[in-house]
Amino acid sequence: MEFGRLVLVLFLCLSASQGCGGGGASAAGPTAVPLMPSVMEVDPLKASAGSRLVGAAVQASLLGDTAYAAAVARHFAWVTPEYEMKWGQIERTRGVRNYGPADTIASFARTHGLQVRGHALVWHGDTPAWFEALSPAEASHALEDHIRTTAGRYRGQVNAWDVVNEAVADGAPGLRDSVYLRKLGTSYIAEAFRMAREADPSALLFYNDYGGEGAGRKSDDTYALVAGLKRDGVPIDGVGLQMHLDASSRPPVADIAANIRRLAALGLMVNISEMDVRIARLSGASSTRLDEQGRIYHDVVAACLTEPRCHAITFWGFTDRHSWIDSAFGPDDPLLFDEAYRAKPAFYGVLEALRGR
Ligand code: G3I
Repeated sequence: MEFGRLVLVLFLCLSASQGCGGGGASAAGPTAVPLMPSVMEVDPLKASAGSRLVGAAVQASLLGDTAYAAAVARHFAWVTPEYEMKWGQIERTRGVRNYGPADTIASFARTHGLQVRGHALVWHGDTPAWFEALSPAEASHALEDHIRTTAGRYRGQVNAWDVVNEAVADGAPGLRDSVYLRKLGTSYIAEAFRMAREADPSALLFYNDYGGEGAGRKSDDTYALVAGLKRDGVPIDGVGLQMHLDASSRPPVADIAANIRRLAALGLMVNISEMDVRIARLSGASSTRLDEQGRIYHDVVAACLTEPRCHAITFWGFTDRHSWIDSAFGPDDPLLFDEAYRAKPAFYGVLEALRGR
C-alpha cells in the first residue's frame, strides 16, 4: 500500500467511531476511542531494514519498564545510550567513575542481541564540571584518561562510537568555541579519534553533529572538517547527521540526499543518528500535522536508503512519552509512537520507506 493511501486509511481509522483494530485491538463500543495498533502489534521495523541498522536512543532508567523494554527489543537492532555513556554522567567527581547505567544498557543489548552505539566521548554539552578549572596540560591528560578508560571498557561491547559530538560552530564559520577548543586547540578532534582507535581498534568511529543535514554553511563546514580528517589520515569511519528536524522549517530532502552523497563520496559511512521531527509549530488539525510528520520521516529515511554508505538510522527515542524535545522546546509529539505506544503515521512512514515504497 503506497504511503499516501496508507496514511489515508490510518486517518479514516482515527476519525472513525470504531477503531481500525489493526492488530487484534477491538473497539469497546460506539463510544470507543479510535484505536491504533500498539508498538507490539505492528511489524518490527528492523525486520524490514535489510542490511541497514535501525536504532533508537534508550535510557537505562526506563529499561525496567517492561513495555518500554519489549518495544526496544522488538523494533531496534542498535541502541544508543541517550546520556549514560557521556563523560559528565560517568565522572561527576574527578577520578570516581560510575558506569552502572551505561552497563545496564550494554547488558540489555547483550541479552537481546542488539548492538550498541557509544555516545559520546567528547561533547561540550555533557562534560564534568571540574574539567573547566584544569590547565591545558591537565585537561589533555584528563581527556586522554577518559577516552582510553571508557572506550577501553566498552571494547567488544559497542560497534561504534560518536567520538566527537558537535564541534562545528552554529552561528559562525569554523569550530565551536568550546572548552575543548579553548584548552586544547583544534588538534583535540584528531587526537580524540586517534586515542579512541587505540582504545578500541574494532569500533567504527564517527563525527556527529546537528544543523548541517542539508545545504548551508554548517553543512559545508562539517564536510570540510571530516574531509580534512580523512585527508590527514585520522581514523574516522563515518559521520552522524543527527536530524533533529522541525517540520515547519526543515531542509529540503533533495539537499539532505545530496549532502549524504557527498559525505559518502569521501569514503565515509553516513548515519542518521538522532532523528526526531517536531510538529508543534505546524498549523492545521492534529491528523494533518501527524500526516506531514509521517511524510518527513518517510522521505528522510528514503533519502538515506538511496546511498549504500548510509548504513543506519537511529531515532532519538521512539515514543512521545519519553523525548528530550518537551523539556528543550516545549510540548510536542516528535517520535514514531504516541504517549500510549500506539503507531503514528511517522511509524508507517519509516516502515514504508524501509520497504522501498
Ligand atoms: O532521569 C534521569 C535520572 O533518573 C538520573 O538520576 C539523572 C542523573 O543525572 O539524570 C536524569 O536524566 C537526565 C536525562 O536527560 C533524562 O531526562 C540527565 O540528567 C540529563 O543530562 C539528560 O540530558 C540528555 C542531554 O543530551 C545531555 O546529556 C538528554 O536526555 C539527551 O536527549 C540529550 O541528547 C543530545 C545528544 O546527546 C547530542 N545531540 C543533541 C541531543 C539533545 O540535546
